[in-house]
Amino acid sequence: RRSLSAQPFDGIAEGQAVAIGAVRFSLVVPTYNESHNIERIVALLSQQLDAVLPHDYEIIVVDDDSPDGTWRIAQALMSRYPFLRVMRRQAERGLSTAVIRGWQVSRGEVLGVIDGDLQHPPEVLQQLLAAITQGAALAVASRNADGGGVSTWSAMRRFLSRGAQLLGLVLLPDVVSRVSDPMSGYFLVRRSAIAGRSLHPLGYKILLEVLGRGEIEQIAEVGYVFQEREAGESKVTWKQYRDYIYHLLRLRVSLGRLGRVSQKLNFPFIRFARFAFVGLSGLVVDMGLLYLLHSTLGFGLTRSAIVAAELAIINNFVWNDRWTFGDLAQQQQKRHQVIKRFAKFNLICLMGLILKILILNLFFNALHFNPYLSNFLAIVMVTLWNFWINLKLSWRI
Ligand code: GDD
Ligand code: MN
Repeated sequence: RRSLSAQPFDGIAEGQAVAIGAVRFSLVVPTYNESHNIERIVALLSQQLDAVLPHDYEIIVVDDDSPDGTWRIAQALMSRYPFLRVMRRQAERGLSTAVIRGWQVSRGEVLGVIDGDLQHPPEVLQQLLAAITQGAALAVASRNADGGGVSTWSAMRRFLSRGAQLLGLVLLPDVVSRVSDPMSGYFLVRRSAIAGRSLHPLGYKILLEVLGRGEIEQIAEVGYVFQEREAGESKVTWKQYRDYIYHLLRLRVSLGRLGRVSQKLNFPFIRFARFAFVGLSGLVVDMGLLYLLHSTLGFGLTRSAIVAAELAIINNFVWNDRWTFGDLAQQQQKRHQVIKRFAKFNLICLMGLILKILILNLFFNALHFNPYLSNFLAIVMVTLWNFWINLKLSWRI
């Protein structure tokens, strides 16, 4: 009855609350190996929420199939706590995606997130809820607001945390300066502020996505002291710092001018720019291999050209699959279909080649354009064709 399955990443739906029986508040608790904390956090959260929103909330634990069986313990708690729902994810990983998946299946008008390791004090929830009731679209628990802080962080961790914030301020001043603690993983947001927007979660910092892509007017902050972990361990590694920087850069590009025009015209310029860039890398591979095979190793020109072209196609496929369309390729249903994507990509590129020769001839023979201009126009048109058809068929947006 309350087992949940994940859907594709198309953002948070607006109206499902009405359909499945509305609740006012949905709180997501992402967990990974929190078997020693899960029971206590659920008990404390329910105690807080029963006091202010009896029968009008749900707690959604999103666990990434923790080896320590956190999901099993959480599922066992469902008989004691009727408002508790548990999602066990087996095909997807990551803190930010967990939060969004939880929100996608949620029914509340107000959405929230809190860590499952008790480092975020549950007492603050009531103040956060009050701030939303008073009109805020977003209520952030902050370590840097009045009454906030960290208990016993090392100088190194404080330095890294402040450095990360500073970097955010430089790259995304309009977004990051709106809150005193942009790294916070403890906040509530009105569903209406993010419904229908596509979110692109990456790494740990889901608040950046919400601030950057949501429609957020009024923001409230509540100070809190980041508690020490008593059980289990932090999952933060250097990868989180890398993801964070990449996330900032990505938001910078898509919230910048190019991103805005791209949205208005409904054409994915940024993706196209990547595709074109990968195409250029393919040209380099093609030329280099032709030189190697023909001039250095002495193979015939046609044979060398065919091998070089095919290897260039493979090169382009790898980069497009990992980078240009990486987000689409990583979607659950598609992850294992690399060969299928490659076959389609290859076929579409070959058709593109034929198309290119046709267009070249059209411009040159029928319209009497200069041959180089004809070739250039053919390349531009075929690149667009390759991009669009591959987007729709090979990576199926
Ligand atoms: N489902 C899921 N999948 N949960 C995860 C994953 C994951 O891949 N990685 C971590 N979590 C859960 C943890 O179990 C915990 O409940 C919460 O996410 C936070 O993870 P920690 O590893 O404990 O993070 P932290 O304490 O270093 O970071 C906290 O502080 C940051 C502020 O500096 C988090 O609250 C961040 O959200 C916050 O931004
Ligand atoms: Mn933690």
